[in-house]
Amino acid sequence: MAGDRSQEAKAPVLEVRNLRVSYTTAAGPLRAVNGVSFYLWPGERLGLVGESGSGKTTTALSLMRLMQDTTVVEGGEVLLDGVDLLKLSEEEMRQARFAKISLIPQGAMNSLNPMMKVGEQLRDTIRAHQPKGNSKATIDARIQQVLESVELRLNVMDSYPHELSGGMKQRVCIAMSILLNPKVIIADEPTSALDVVVQRQVMETLRRVQVALGAAVILVGHDMGLMAQFVDRIGVMYGGKLVEVGPVRGIFKDPLHPYTQLLIKSLPNLDMKDVFRGIPGLTPSLLTPPPGCMFHPRCPQVIQRCSVDIPKFVEIKPERWAACHLCEGGRQ
Ligand SMILES: Nc1ncnc2c1ncn2[C@@H]1O[C@H](COP(=O)(O)OP(=O)(O)O)[C@@H](O)[C@H]1O
Ligand SMILES: [Mg+2]
Repeated sequence: MAGDRSQEAKAPVLEVRNLRVSYTTAAGPLRAVNGVSFYLWPGERLGLVGESGSGKTTTALSLMRLMQDTTVVEGGEVLLDGVDLLKLSEEEMRQARFAKISLIPQGAMNSLNPMMKVGEQLRDTIRAHQPKGNSKATIDARIQQVLESVELRLNVMDSYPHELSGGMKQRVCIAMSILLNPKVIIADEPTSALDVVVQRQVMETLRRVQVALGAAVILVGHDMGLMAQFVDRIGVMYGGKLVEVGPVRGIFKDPLHPYTQLLIKSLPNLDMKDVFRGIPGLTPSLLTPPPGCMFHPRCPQVIQRCSVDIPKFVEIKPERWAACHLCEGGRQ
């Protein structure tokens, strides 16, 4: 899929350009997303990976324009089929959610309404987009089709969320995200609350429905290993920025950014089974970010320039993007 040269003739389904989002806090603006740019091909799976606090969820919510009162979109474009979602009216954006771009939010299973049966919640999602359109029978036929595709029995429609297991609730959330055939599905840590066996099953389901629908997926997570099994390309976030983007295979074989290198080294492997290798140091303060490269205080390969100049996010070689002074002008 990604890396397929025939894709080059096509347009990306989603293109994010220089997205900048901050939160207003008592201590001043907190820059959670600081100039993020990437594209997503139709049907492609892109992973956004990074430590907690790197801005993954803020990016996901901003693409959906699900803002809090304290969120400020400072700039950028979110082009879905060439239309900038940031410029749509509230009503136009409401229509686009679920129908064109949908989100399985972080902690999705807790986002289901505990007071409402699953079937009603699914019907509401369809009705909100087709108020005068379809009959209840047509709506239920669609819901049944989608529930089958996520391997749930139809009787879950009569259940309240608390009557379902974590894996089943997560499947309901996947069902909701595909009800209206979106072109892009964003899944924010869709399996992090589940045990590993259920995690794998839910990921398989997500992949199957995504392929059947031909939708592109942005999978947000912190687990580089899980990510590698699911996505075509990986984007690594650090301190509100993308520091590296590239096809999975290339990233694992030849990570360009020192942070990506450390993320891969810190994955458990059989030779090192008793050694936990985290990344030393703390994530940067987004209220008072370090000058130059956000990663330079923790970077084992830091050079003088890193504390002065902000590295540009550039294509180092075909399809391999990175923001690092060491990578610029060729391989380190
Ligand atoms: N509502 C908020 N108000 C202020 N700061 C926030 C808010 N939500 C998130 N943040 C901060 O924004 C940064 C990015 O958070 P988030 O997007 O949730 O990262 P991630 O999903 O990668 O863990 C963090 O420093 C976090 O503390
Ligand atoms: Mg998050």
